[in-house]
Amino acid sequence: MIKKVFLLFVLITLGIVTISAQKLFPIYLDESKSIDERVANALSLMTVDEKVALCHAQSKFSVKGVARLGIPELWMSDGPHGVRAEFEWNTWQYAGWTNDSCTAFPALTCLAATFNPSLSYIYGKAIGEEARYRKKDVLLGPGVNIYRTPLNGRNFEYLGEDPYLASKMSVPYIWGVQESGVAACLKHFALNNQEKWRSHIDVEVSDRALYEIYLPAFKSAVIEGKVESIMGSYNKFRGQHCCHNELLLNKILKTDWQFDGVVISDWGGTHDSFEAVNYGLDIEMGTHTNGLTSDTNSPYNTFYLADPFLEGIKSGKYSMKLLDDKATRVLKLLFRTALQSKRPLGSLATAEHAAVSRKIAEEGIVLLKNSTDILPLKTNSLKNILVVGENATRMMTKGGGSSELKVKLEVSPLQGLKNAMGADVKITYAMGYASGPSMYGKVVPPKFNTDSLRKAAVELAKQADVVIYVGGLNKNYLQDCEDGDRLQLELPFDQNLLLNQLAEVNPKVVVVLLSGNAVAMPWLNKVPAVVQAWYLGSEAGNAIASVLTGTVNPSGKLPFTFPVKLSDCGAHSFGELSYPGDSIKQVYSDDILVGYRWYDTKKITPLFPFGYGLSYTSFKLGKATIQKSSFTLADTAIVTVPLANIGLLNGKEVIQIYVTDSKASVQRPLKELKGFAKMNLKAGESKTVEIKLPVADWAFYDEKIGNWNLEAGKFILSIGTSSRDISQKIEVAVK
Ligand code: GLC
Repeated sequence: MIKKVFLLFVLITLGIVTISAQKLFPIYLDESKSIDERVANALSLMTVDEKVALCHAQSKFSVKGVARLGIPELWMSDGPHGVRAEFEWNTWQYAGWTNDSCTAFPALTCLAATFNPSLSYIYGKAIGEEARYRKKDVLLGPGVNIYRTPLNGRNFEYLGEDPYLASKMSVPYIWGVQESGVAACLKHFALNNQEKWRSHIDVEVSDRALYEIYLPAFKSAVIEGKVESIMGSYNKFRGQHCCHNELLLNKILKTDWQFDGVVISDWGGTHDSFEAVNYGLDIEMGTHTNGLTSDTNSPYNTFYLADPFLEGIKSGKYSMKLLDDKATRVLKLLFRTALQSKRPLGSLATAEHAAVSRKIAEEGIVLLKNSTDILPLKTNSLKNILVVGENATRMMTKGGGSSELKVKLEVSPLQGLKNAMGADVKITYAMGYASGPSMYGKVVPPKFNTDSLRKAAVELAKQADVVIYVGGLNKNYLQDCEDGDRLQLELPFDQNLLLNQLAEVNPKVVVVLLSGNAVAMPWLNKVPAVVQAWYLGSEAGNAIASVLTGTVNPSGKLPFTFPVKLSDCGAHSFGELSYPGDSIKQVYSDDILVGYRWYDTKKITPLFPFGYGLSYTSFKLGKATIQKSSFTLADTAIVTVPLANIGLLNGKEVIQIYVTDSKASVQRPLKELKGFAKMNLKAGESKTVEIKLPVADWAFYDEKIGNWNLEAGKFILSIGTSSRDISQKIEVAVK
């Protein structure tokens, strides 16, 4: 009897303990439970008001959590190249903190130019650590919009003109960021390929071009990258704003791709409650602002997903199912970040991150011309170097829009050259040209007399052993800057005149271009060397000097084509409606023929082709082989390519494989990049590389069946070191 009483006593005690433990330690905080279980538990405890509060901003860059349940706020920060300085709660003014100076990593065009996905991973890891240290849960990057026109003000933030390259270079970046305990936010979804009229232009494009060109980088980020949030773009697509677009968000993203993360609007990209509630938006940010400078006095409760949504739920206009889906997604994001107790702690502006920044910068620089082997500079025979150009000293981490940064350090090209040269080398500087200060939304003319600047530089050039010209574009409005497009392909600020005059008085002008876009080069035949150096971030000057002096052998490849003239470009070959549109609507008549797809198919010779980049050494491709000559859809072709470094310096080369569908029932581009590999070879060394090409990637999107289609027949694999330097072809059959 006593035993039974005792047993009963024990059971009752156990029951009380368990219930109280439950009370004290709710399921949603129990990290031994699955995220889905914890989210469902939290959701079941929340009021309607608390759920709606998760769907819109409470400040410029944050969303309310659920304080009553101990669920923290969600904090976001720009940008793709570094963690932006802290803003005031509700203005476009910086808060003036003294502990938020960061590392500036190279612009993503530079990352793309490395053609080295392993660098994308260390980039993402490092920038993720900085965002984590700054207590941000979401980093608003990377941007993967396709380079359709050289005039787009934000091309510098993206990964070039080819969807395959953009996919391969963005996925590891996302892995790196998210392993640091911060959610990446892929942007801008979708078809935001220019800045002119960005807030409303209504893009029309065929399904083929949508699926073959503009969506792949987003799809691979969701499927392979497991990206945890996506930013809707400002523009419209087929009549609906992309921040609440039934086809893009509900159908393609959340149904076809099974995206379980959060769709965040661009700042000011939300325009309608019914659409925001029903067409896939989860968090509304920055409403009634232009995302950069302008603000209206619109309290957060007036946002489209705030009171109008709450009232709609209470009146029955909107179903609770829609609210629960949004709140579930936002809670999942919170549980994956802010509520993940094992998150690493991160670090900010460290020597390690500067080293990562420099490594990527050095590997992304592209050597475009070196006709007299003037590079690398023979520093022991140079006594008097003249550096010309405003870009040799101008800060490039400032300006450009939301990707601008407050850096702990930015080494200018001039400073980098001084750091690298011996004390016995005299380095003189002449500004040469002036562009004016960087202001959003307006062009401010420079205070300088540009004629006198040019004359002074040309005078000094007469007695220099070598002239290093550092020019290109900058982050001014209507240059490489958000919320506006460039007005021309030509270099601005009278640089062509200056370059011609410099070349007249000195045959040794090395041109270094800083830009995120292609430019015309009418002076190309008058100079012996041209280097495309992107916006390289904190270590810019050191990276440029390393390449110019030969400490680093350049191995970058162009992620987009440099056309000879703007009218050669596909987007500019179909009149105003194709670019920039008629201010209401725009039709991408170039369709699937974007970038090299256009120049190759139309047989237009570019100034410098996609995938092109020189080295200080020479490489020789051996005979490529393939494991068999006929394939089915499920196969993966494996191409083995021998490569030899037959020069005197260690170096890296990128082997690229383009696929041609010889006979298709629809028009297809002449060839499309479907595989690449970067090889590191010592002088005299030979290696073979295996490049895997899943045959399914060779399909086209068939509008007749609304799906991908791979037609049997002959395919040609072109192997080379740029889209125009094809050394051999292999013919295969697809059954
Ligand atoms: C900007 C940009 C977007 C940025 C956001 C917040 O307008 O379009 O890329 O992340 O607003 O600054």
